[in-house]
Amino acid sequence: MNQVKELQEHGDLIEIPNFEAMLNPHPHYAALAAKGPVVRLRTHIGVEVYGVTQWDTAIAVLRDIRFSKSSANMQNALKKSGLSGPGSGFPISGAKAGNLLNTDPPDHTRLRNLVNLAFSPRRIELLRVRVEALVDDLLSRLVGREDADMIGEFAYPIGITMICELLGVPDDSRSNFRDWATKAMSPGHADQQQSLNLLMQYLADLIAAKRKLVADDAAPDAQPDVLSAMIAARLTNDALTEDELISMSYLMLIAGHETTVGLMSNALLHLAQHPEQMNHLARQPELIKQAIEEVLRYDGPVHRTTMRATAEDVEIGGLTIPSGSFVQVLIAGCNRDPSRFPDPDRFDITRKPSQNLAFGYGAHFCLGLHLARLEAQTAITRVLKTYPGMRLACSPEDIPWAKTVIRAPARLPMRLTH
Ligand code: HEM
Repeated sequence: MNQVKELQEHGDLIEIPNFEAMLNPHPHYAALAAKGPVVRLRTHIGVEVYGVTQWDTAIAVLRDIRFSKSSANMQNALKKSGLSGPGSGFPISGAKAGNLLNTDPPDHTRLRNLVNLAFSPRRIELLRVRVEALVDDLLSRLVGREDADMIGEFAYPIGITMICELLGVPDDSRSNFRDWATKAMSPGHADQQQSLNLLMQYLADLIAAKRKLVADDAAPDAQPDVLSAMIAARLTNDALTEDELISMSYLMLIAGHETTVGLMSNALLHLAQHPEQMNHLARQPELIKQAIEEVLRYDGPVHRTTMRATAEDVEIGGLTIPSGSFVQVLIAGCNRDPSRFPDPDRFDITRKPSQNLAFGYGAHFCLGLHLARLEAQTAITRVLKTYPGMRLACSPEDIPWAKTVIRAPARLPMRLTH
């Protein structure tokens, strides 16, 4: 899902990711695309993956149910690889795997229907006032400062607060999340599995505590938070299992904050690196929607989809992918496919917006895209209103990149110029 780094070739196998080339992964995607619409990759732990590099093939794969996400098919592919797992931070087997990203219809449809409404455009629009207040509060804390880490002091608190409030995760434990979530999403980190377990256990305990409140119908008139609504669905008509309840909560918590933090951070970074575009947006804030779409296309926070697995031989992009293989779409490369986006390496907030793959495509397209857009559009508009002359406070080469599956800086020192 992130940086395809220096490409070390082993026959026709290309190794991903390589964190040293993080500063500029896009030439590597272009090099992969030049080899063909489907290339063979090898992850850091040796799992072989067919990587989709071009737009048309990506759409064909993402709408084709033969590229399965079911836990059974993924486990089969894993067994075939003889290894322990792609290590993306999303468990693909066992009790913890019962969520949207590890199911095909009808289970996927059943689980998605339970949460779709809470993330619908109409429901998310109701959060606008809350996001605005949160952004303004964070900006007010920066008054009088010359510099700030715009991730730690701005983007991160927005992302974590919004998803926790929506899900119904209380304030007191949020400080643990950053550490657990970061490690759980860091391929190869020694504490990856343990952090994932800690987060799962925390959610199991939280759900147990919330279940009592739901059973007592403690606040019958209030709009229930998403976790309470799922607990109620389990209590009233057994709509999902206990493991699915925990796994779904984990997925939404993990997928719902580092991603939006990454989007806001990448927006600030690329605007700061293109001062004429930043000035343009500061003068014409009505361009914000297309500016955020351009950030998503140019350098969104999710560079690769999660894995699919073939349950039969499938021919795609002129290649037969054998049954029991892992397949992954290289989103970041497809979003710069020159056959779809003219002059794709140019960052241009006035680019005529057209569909990009930043939020995926097909049955598994992102559940939280309206929330992500609301947060990013609000945050960037308001920060530029306050600091229209904002610039990086270090050279771009000194920006540390996160070593997780999310493509984003780990810190973003910026000069707060009015
Ligand atoms: C800029 C922010 C975000 C980006 C770029 C992003 C990207 C993506 C992508 C590419 C997928 C498809 C993965 C695949 O097909 O393998 C996806 C799925 C998903 N996203 Fe997001 N996401 C973002 C924010 C969020 C938020 C805020 C939530 C909140 C809950 C969320 C929840 C999910 C879930 C649950 C899925 C699985 C959907 C399914 O399988 O039906 N995402 N996201």
